[in-house]
Amino acid sequence: MKNDIISDLEQRYTAKRYDSSKRIPKDELETLYRAIQLSPSSINSQPWKFIVIESDAAKERMHNTFINKHQFNQRHIKEASHIILFAHNPRYTRDDYAQVVDQGIADGRTAPENRELAFGGFSFAALNTLENGDTSAWTKAQTYLALGNTLHVLARLGIDSTTMEGVDSELISKEFQQELDGYQCDVALAIGYHHQDEDYNTALPKSRLPLKTILTVL
Ligand SMILES: Cc1cc2nc3c(=O)[nH]c(=O)nc-3n(C[C@H](O)[C@H](O)[C@H](O)COP(=O)(O)O)c2cc1C
Repeated sequence: MKNDIISDLEQRYTAKRYDSSKRIPKDELETLYRAIQLSPSSINSQPWKFIVIESDAAKERMHNTFINKHQFNQRHIKEASHIILFAHNPRYTRDDYAQVVDQGIADGRTAPENRELAFGGFSFAALNTLENGDTSAWTKAQTYLALGNTLHVLARLGIDSTTMEGVDSELISKEFQQELDGYQCDVALAIGYHHQDEDYNTALPKSRLPLKTILTVL
């Protein structure tokens, strides 16, 4: 079984060192941003924000969030081409969903007279909201769908990446308070091109559990 999809996914891997002289071309970044925007989510809720760390000044700010922990990921911040913060809305409300509904009207999916009806889907968000208004478990899951989609698109584009749950969410919340606007970043993604000699992970074979232990066809 070999096709383009499988070879993309076999070739993608988690980069451990980046070539700091290489930067992702603008047109590929635009493809990536559009792919991120097209990520699916439950009830089309899109309870996410993506903060792209591109400038040296922004990289410095992100670099500083590693002072307490996860230093093993820190060097990617300055060496990789870009870092994307994947952030979720921890308190998704009906007002947030109103933006989705109104966008659906603007995009011609929903007739304006059916606006109230379109809120029906929100019951699913309500089901996933704790008594205290916390929606994190559900909204964070949506954000990981965008992450998975992004990883696949990067593989297609031949861009290397490092997913990093090894980030300091608290310090990121403080440092990027204004940009995050109450959203929570628990995972970030370094993207760029691996270092030719110093990325030990390029030479290692892919390792996954046998298909028969993870997949059942009934
Ligand atoms: C949600 C998630 C969080 C991860 N966090 C880190 C991390 O903080 N640092 C790191 O070097 N790799 C991290 N990884 C990389 C995984 O270890 C890696 O994807 C896994 O071992 C499979 O290897 P592959 O990506 O090379 O196929 C993370 C991956 C995922 C999906």
